[in-house]
Amino acid sequence: MNILAQEMLSAVMQPVETARGLPNEFYTDPEVHVAEKRVLFASTWACAGFVSDIPKRGDANPVSFLGQPLLMVRGNDDDIKVFQNVCRHRGMILVEEKTTLRSTIRCPYHSWCYNFDGSLRTTPHVGGPGNNLHDCIKREELGLIEVRSHVFMGMIFVNLDGKAPAFNEHAATLLEQWKEFVDRPLFHAGQDSSFKLNVRCNWKLAVENYCESYHLPWVHPGLNSYSRLEDHYNIVEPGAYSGQGSVVYNSQLDATRKFANFDGLSDKWNTGAEYVSLYPNVLLGVHRDHTFAIMLDPQSHDQTIERVEIFYATEEMCGPEMADLRQKNAKMWKDIFIEDIFVVEGMQKGRSASLYDGGKFSPVMDVPTYCFHEWVARRFTGK
Ligand code: FES
Ligand SMILES: [Fe+2]
Repeated sequence: MNILAQEMLSAVMQPVETARGLPNEFYTDPEVHVAEKRVLFASTWACAGFVSDIPKRGDANPVSFLGQPLLMVRGNDDDIKVFQNVCRHRGMILVEEKTTLRSTIRCPYHSWCYNFDGSLRTTPHVGGPGNNLHDCIKREELGLIEVRSHVFMGMIFVNLDGKAPAFNEHAATLLEQWKEFVDRPLFHAGQDSSFKLNVRCNWKLAVENYCESYHLPWVHPGLNSYSRLEDHYNIVEPGAYSGQGSVVYNSQLDATRKFANFDGLSDKWNTGAEYVSLYPNVLLGVHRDHTFAIMLDPQSHDQTIERVEIFYATEEMCGPEMADLRQKNAKMWKDIFIEDIFVVEGMQKGRSASLYDGGKFSPVMDVPTYCFHEWVARRFTGK
């Protein structure tokens, strides 16, 4: 990193009162985006998909995550594994479309077949016609390349470089803060609890906006009418996550029916809700009767797909009789997230102002956003 960039990042790492935000290049430069894949994603735990993408045994979901072809597979023991989606023979992509596999992962090129655990099972004619073995082809050394993965709150996290601390260590403080929600089953109802938004902005702007409640009165006047700015508090865990909580969660989607609550929650959650960005690319929300997770899937330095999945407390909440309520809930959230699009896209356009200096944080209202900027700067500088 050149000296100028070092200086700009050291300005980001000052105390919030005097800090500047990340320089424009972090939003506009494709080369910085390439570096981010390594520095901010591959070296830690990032969300690459959802458990609900592969609900049945044998389900296989190929994804391109940060340009990497990955294959998520649910094995016969319900174990979820993530592999690089590439054959160990000559590097053919193994699975092109989401599918349910019968018993093996078969390469369409020369038909090498892999078990769901990644081990290489058969290599037809590899030793010549009719001979499926050859001394040089050691099957035990030619299993699929597995990517370290971990399932958390319905999401599939991957650590691409394999060197991050264990997920539970990495997310230890959030696991503690939300111990009432983690380690319990979450139920997903399929399509009506799932939607995507395409936003023309760098993925970090979606994180930065999600972290703070400061924009509520102007960007979400409807939400602000019952959950006001003054009902919110900051959540800040430097180096890990940040966001905001509300002491007023009182969703009324229907006059008579409501979703079941999670069992055994403490009183805090009767009217409380919390929303955090788990760095780098996950936005989470928890309430007494549902949670949601948003995966930010960067397509380039200025394009991001937001995948939103909503989860409920019991299996019954995912049945047909609750479908209309689930649809209302999904629509409520979708409308709120759509309200945010003009500001994240507007900030992206603003980053082309060459004299913009990274901006200024409110030491009161912008602390969660500052916390994220500081995390980015520290990872890039190694400080
Ligand atoms: S490339 Fe897969 S079997 Fe040849
Ligand atoms: Fe918002």
